[in-house]
Amino acid sequence: MKLFVDTADLAEIERIAGWGVLSGVTTNPTLLSKVDGDADDIYRRVCEVVDGPVSAEVVAVEHEEMIAEGTRLAAIHPNIVGKLPMSAESLEATTRLAADDIRVNMTLCFTAPQALLAAAAGAAFVSPFVGRFDDIGQDGVECLRDVVEVLETSSYDTEVIAASIRTPVHVMEAARMGSDIATIPPKVFDQMLRHPLTTAGIETFTRDYEARQAATKG
Ligand code: E4P
Repeated sequence: MKLFVDTADLAEIERIAGWGVLSGVTTNPTLLSKVDGDADDIYRRVCEVVDGPVSAEVVAVEHEEMIAEGTRLAAIHPNIVGKLPMSAESLEATTRLAADDIRVNMTLCFTAPQALLAAAAGAAFVSPFVGRFDDIGQDGVECLRDVVEVLETSSYDTEVIAASIRTPVHVMEAARMGSDIATIPPKVFDQMLRHPLTTAGIETFTRDYEARQAATKG
């Protein structure tokens, strides 16, 4: 499973990209609202840092306007993917953008039938949201499983991006069920990295090394 980072914070993208683990980036208007700077500049700089799909969300709601916005965003860099929220207008826009070889990430997907529609319209990616399903007391992991199963058995090339990830457990579940990608907030990357036994082990090794060095010198 490929790992994307879910943020518009360039410093965080650079930090996680430095680990050598990133295959792409997803952003959305909420994530952009948390950082300063012109959105197009941010997309451009993100594309310089990460060599992979970078989702830039379209805010238009009518399909002709979505097509115009998606086309404009895609012209920023070849790695830009137009992110469209699940709707009839988005399906129509996706068909036309895909015909022009502009990749679409259909976002705010909560059911397998929605994912199937997105795939049939030609979306390159579909993003089922795990955490937001959990937030309303439903099982986001099961929703993701449905989407993965349905698209696995269909003839579409659409890749599944497990989105709205809240914990490393969500990431592991996504990997186990065969999701193509998980888009992960920086905080969850940090949680994946750390373990108290790893920290304690490093401290012990360092202490023992230093003790041996001191003894050898003495
Ligand atoms: C997906 O691409 C979205 O940007 C994201 O995963 C939304 O997650 P949230 O539910 O944490 O806002």
